[in-house]
Amino acid sequence: MSSAPHREAERGGGQQTLERVPLELSTTESWLDPFDWYAEMRENHPVRYDERRRVWDVFRYADAARILSDPMTFSSDPTRATELDLPEPEARGPLFETMLTSDGSRHDRLRGVVEESFRPRSLVPRAPHIRDVADDLLDDVVDRGEMDLIADFAYPLPVVVIAELLGVPTEDRPTFKRWSDTLVETPADTSEAGLEAFARERRRVDDELRAYFEAILDDRRTDPRDDLVSDIVHAESDGETLSHEEAVGFCILLLVAGNVTTTNLLGNAVRCLTAHPDAMARLAADPTLTTTAVEEVLRYRSPVQALVRVATRDVELAGADVHTGDAVVPWLGSANRDPAVFDAPDEFRIDRTPNSHLGFGRGTHYCLGAPLARLEARIALEQLFARVTDVERASTELDPVRSAFIYGVRSFPIRYRAHPETTPRPQVETVDDGATTRRTDRNA
Ligand code: HEM
Repeated sequence: MSSAPHREAERGGGQQTLERVPLELSTTESWLDPFDWYAEMRENHPVRYDERRRVWDVFRYADAARILSDPMTFSSDPTRATELDLPEPEARGPLFETMLTSDGSRHDRLRGVVEESFRPRSLVPRAPHIRDVADDLLDDVVDRGEMDLIADFAYPLPVVVIAELLGVPTEDRPTFKRWSDTLVETPADTSEAGLEAFARERRRVDDELRAYFEAILDDRRTDPRDDLVSDIVHAESDGETLSHEEAVGFCILLLVAGNVTTTNLLGNAVRCLTAHPDAMARLAADPTLTTTAVEEVLRYRSPVQALVRVATRDVELAGADVHTGDAVVPWLGSANRDPAVFDAPDEFRIDRTPNSHLGFGRGTHYCLGAPLARLEARIALEQLFARVTDVERASTELDPVRSAFIYGVRSFPIRYRAHPETTPRPQVETVDDGATTRRTDRNA
């Protein structure tokens, strides 16, 4: 049985150890394609302790699923970790006060504030508008014959959608991008001076985000509207449901979670499809395949590759001896390629069923925005292939998102031809959460 060879490892110069990536992923190639490394780890070191990051890395599906399904043993609260360099409590910022980092009744209370708004039935009326937003973005680039899929389409679409849901001005989206990038990326310069500059930039972004959302929360206190910020203000105003700090954290979480991940889902989808032209041709010819194609991208190139939990008791994990307070990182991206669960896991199959990937997590923290992300991705791909054809990569170079958790590319130039025929828009929009399908009629 292995156990963490505690605990004399050198401290990380004040950098949050959670932001560090494993050394094995420190080259551009491995960041872009970590899957060979995952395969080796699943086979030979399915649970290993990384002394540098002071976390347990977990690579097999069964172990990752077990961790996520047992929140009593594996807490989502990083402050329970004994070996991580977290910022001092006063410097932690509102993102430490969210449902994502809470357990038990606090988590349920926070999630309950907005849960209803993200259910498929609440999203149905929004589907036609999401299609309009996608189409407007495509109007600007279709005739050009080339675009950066990320900057021109995959970034603006989800950010406009979540900004509208929240009720914040969509014109502020360049600022949202700078904020989100700073919050998810790992420092490029790991010298002491570089890490300090990174920590300062983080604090600056925390302060800017706090000031931005405090002003909007103030506004909705006097002028409530039909948006999520108003729901959050309402929950804060009863003095029990939400504290002020939680209200601010809520807005930031929804803004960041609602755009970074979906941008990378779309970028990863087009990356997969340009690498598999047969699959792209099939999808373009038969848009009903889009739902399963999106699930396959979530499995094959998962936008969230890893999560973090903290052991609340001593526990054995696939032969490893994990102690109370140890941080554990289930690698979703590896679990999703586990041959114990998926037939030919390294094949990209747009009609794969069943497809029980962990791309949205599992258990109590299962992605709140999953129905929205699925809807946006399906509409985005349907509209893209309705408007353009012969899509191919326009650059051989790829620049990965440099994050310990988020997986995608920063830009993805493509070439294409405008579609010679106009495809009619669906008259009935559907929203599917895997179990149920809900419909809205455009003419109703
Ligand atoms: C492709 C897009 C997305 C992916 C891959 C994704 C992935 C995930 C994953 C893996 C988790 C589980 C975290 C954990 O267990 O610790 C999660 C949670 C969450 N996601 Fe998403 N997400 C996506 C889109 C969205 C969108 C559009 C929103 C909407 C605002 C959203 C909001 C959230 C929230 C609030 C949580 C925390 C839920 C909780 O703690 O109960 N996500 N997401």
